[in-house]
Amino acid sequence: MSIPRRRPLVAGNWKLHHGLHASEALARSIAGGLPSPCPVEVVVAPVYTALATVAAALRGTSVGMSSQDLHWEDRGAFTGAVSAPLLKDAGCTYVLVGHSERRQLFGERDEDVRRKASAALRHRLVPIVCVGETLEERERGATLDVVLGQVDAAFGDRDASALDQMVVAYEPVWAIGTGKVARAEDAQAVHVAIRARLTRMAPEAAAMLRILYGGSVKPDNVVELMQQPDIDGALVGGASLEAASFLPIVQAAIARA
Ligand code: 13P
Repeated sequence: MSIPRRRPLVAGNWKLHHGLHASEALARSIAGGLPSPCPVEVVVAPVYTALATVAAALRGTSVGMSSQDLHWEDRGAFTGAVSAPLLKDAGCTYVLVGHSERRQLFGERDEDVRRKASAALRHRLVPIVCVGETLEERERGATLDVVLGQVDAAFGDRDASALDQMVVAYEPVWAIGTGKVARAEDAQAVHVAIRARLTRMAPEAAAMLRILYGGSVKPDNVVELMQQPDIDGALVGGASLEAASFLPIVQAAIARA
């Protein structure tokens, strides 16, 4: 059987960092540092207030833009919420859904993640569905139960055409912002399990689905991660805040592409 070629995706999650000026400058530096054409898809996720500014800075470049979250309703009395149509309007093509910081700090449940992914799909935004286990869950051997449970909640009962429009990011919670990266072969094993689970739903779409790794990805550990056959890119936090650390990560993905 031939191995499907998935175009790697490297996404920078800027989290709650960078105002208008810094976001615009960083977007320009990233776009300016990429080869043209770029064999890897590159996406940045600024704060809401910088989305329109970053979209303008990225116009005509190969770099795409993601939101860090969304609400599942399109409009209405939902103070503080931002919906998929508004994110499209601001220039997003991707949206992070179910990031562990949303789950842990803002009480987001699997059911919410599913509704958010559905709202994104309804408006043709590609949801990057984030899954991952805590340290406690890993230590008691529950990694796959937790991760596959999150995958089932977000993906279960969708048809194959939806799967074509989605991305998964495996981000072990204990590796986020800690400097502790998962061992490449451990991450690979989880990626394989995720793909196998989705293969039961839609074999061809699952073979083409991109599964990113996130959690302390840095220029000095990304090469080994990207050598794993089922790691199709990276979701980068801290190292995405400067072009000097983000671009080498993209370069490593280009080497694999
Ligand atoms: P760090 O790369 O800072 O560990 O963050 C990972 C992450 O949460 C990306 O979404």
